[in-house]
Parts: sequence; structure tokens; C-alpha cells
Amino acid sequence: MSSSSSSSCCINIVLVTVALLTVSGSSHAQLSSSFYDESCPGLPDIVLAVIAQAQLSDPRTPASLVRLHFHDCFVDGCDGSVLLDDSETIVSEKGATPNKNSARGFDVIDDIKSQVESLCPGVVSCADILALAAEASVFLSGGPSWDVPMGRRDGTTANKDGANNNLPTPFDTLDVIQSKFSAVGLDDTDLVALSGAHTFGRAQCKSFSSRLYNYSGTLRPDPSLDPSYLAMLEENCPRGGVGTTLKDLDPTTPDAFDNYYYYNLQNGRGLLQTDQELYSDTSSPIASIIDQYASDDGSFFFENFAVSMINMGSISPLTGSDGEVRFDCRKINAG
Ligand code: HEM
Repeated sequence: MSSSSSSSCCINIVLVTVALLTVSGSSHAQLSSSFYDESCPGLPDIVLAVIAQAQLSDPRTPASLVRLHFHDCFVDGCDGSVLLDDSETIVSEKGATPNKNSARGFDVIDDIKSQVESLCPGVVSCADILALAAEASVFLSGGPSWDVPMGRRDGTTANKDGANNNLPTPFDTLDVIQSKFSAVGLDDTDLVALSGAHTFGRAQCKSFSSRLYNYSGTLRPDPSLDPSYLAMLEENCPRGGVGTTLKDLDPTTPDAFDNYYYYNLQNGRGLLQTDQELYSDTSSPIASIIDQYASDDGSFFFENFAVSMINMGSISPLTGSDGEVRFDCRKINAG
């Protein structure tokens, strides 16, 4: 063997080893998109059909389901904990500030679960149903489709304090949001791509009205707001008005999953302060990702969104014989 071929051989071994270490060290490796191929082949069809039906009567359903998966994964990993109701042993995450009177779609998950239980009892976890529901919701709204890694098991505990502390709030600074993402292994590209989920769904006036009337204690509106957008928001969310009134997160195409969210940010039309703040420094690396996502027909954003959803869906899953497969997503099997 010549010295050049022996050195290329060593480089190959190093590369393969690094690749194996990377795969086995990541939670992606424990999950697989073919996990239920034998045990519950009808699963994806049920998920798609139930959401398509729910979307007919409530066009907001897909957005609410994507958010539920996010709120599940950021609190002790994607273990279905967000779905648990209060009980003798559980203090529900539903009572935490980011979820209370805000997180929704639980009844749709119940419908999916009961149909799945009739077809393949005791097989499919609620955590996996959430991940599949998020993908189906994006797809049904015109967004990308991707193979969802599965094999998560359900947790037997909830963490209300975790929900209060780990989930980003619309009043956090960009630094705090970045650190909440990096605490679960997600980087700035994930942050920008996943924030694109604000291309659909609604927010309550109370989630952003301080921007309209008292930005950072100035008693003035947030200067980064586009004036005509500001006027529209002020009309819908009057000072001292009902904080629970809903506004579209994306004023341009409210129920479609597309890349208008980024275009809105470029034009001072981000609804939450935390959305607009991503574009506060137009020369930053984050702003440059936003510019890329806004610049084409959405395909680059779609590709990145799918990758980041898989990254988010791989946060600390319970696998193997850890946890359980709940029969009812709202309660642990022993409770
Ligand atoms: C980056 C930090 C984030 C913050 C501060 C944030 C905050 C919020 C807030 C305040 C609302 C409105 C809640 C209400 O007023 O009731 C909301 C809605 C929503 N969020 Fe986020 N979010 C963030 C990231 C994400 C991520 C990563 C996803 C999903 C991948 C997501 C998906 C959604 C969706 C789809 C809605 C609309 C839900 C519906 O209409 O029911 N958000 N978010």
C-alpha cells in the first residue's frame, strides 16, 4: 500500500467512526420512521383523516397541534407530558402560564388516540401521535411533508414548573430565547426555522398589546412596527380591551403554511415582539437566515423546517422499555 492510499484509508476509518459516533450519540438513532409499519400500518392515515376533518370545522386546528408538539418537547423531552390532566399524582402542564387558556387541540389528539386504539390497542404512544399530528398538520396546510421518526414512549410524570421555565415567552429577549433553545440542543438555524411555524395560527391580544401602547416602558408603540400594521392591530386590540381577542400570527396568509412569516418580519409585520426581534439587527447571521427563507418560493424554508422539526422531535425521547404507552393520553396507565 502506498503511503497516500494508506493515509486515505485512515481518513476513511476516522470519517466512518465519527459518523457512527454522531449517529449513535444522537437520539435520532433510537427513533425510526418505520417503527409502526408492522404493528400499526394504518396509523398515518388515521392521523391525517382526523386532522383533515377537524380542520373543516376549525381552520386553526393544524396550528394548535404543531404548537402542542413544541410545548411537549421543550419540557423534559417529547414524552406526551403536555397531554396529562391534573390528577392525584399529576400537576398538569396545562396549568402553566404558556399553556393556560392558550394551548389547544387536546380533543383532536383524543379522537386520533381512540381511533388508533381501536385499530392497534396499546401500541402507539401519545408522544408519537403528537409528532405525527404536527407533520400532518403542516402538510394539510400546504407545507412540507417528512418522514417522522417514531418509537417514543410516554412519560408518567408532568412538569408544570418546567413548562413555566423552559418554554419561551413573547416577552423574552432574543438572548433568553436562544438559551432556551440551546438548552434542548437546538441552534439558531433551528430557532429561525421553527419560528416559521408562526406562519399560521393565532395569538391573543395580551400576548403582544404591550408593543402597541407601552413598548419597553416608553408609553409609545414599538418603533419597529410597520405603521399600517400597527393601526390595524390597535383597532383590533384597543388599549384596555379584551386581552383574549385573537389576531392572526401571519396577517398575509393566516391559515397557510408558507414562508410569508419571514417576509412579514422584513416588513415590520411580525406579531410578537419575539418574532420581530429576530430581525432587529439586519446584518446579523439570524437576519441573513430570515432573508434566505423569504427569498424564494419557500422551498429552502420547507427543507430546513422539516429538518428542525425532526431535531425538535428528537429531544430526550423515552425509548425501549422506559415510560409506557398510555391508553388514554390524558392520564398515566396507573392513574
Ligand atoms: C421562539 C419562541 C416562541 C415564542 C416566544 C412563542 C410564543 C407564542 C405565543 C405567545 C403564541 C400565542 C399564544 C396565545 O396568545 O394564546 C404562539 C402561538 C403559536 N406558536 Fe409559538 N412561540 C415560539 C416558538 C414556536 C415554535 C418553535 C413553534 C412550533 C414549531 C410555535 C408554534 C406556534 C403556533 C403554530 C402558534 C399558533 C397556535 C394556535 O393558533 O393555536 N411557536 N407562540
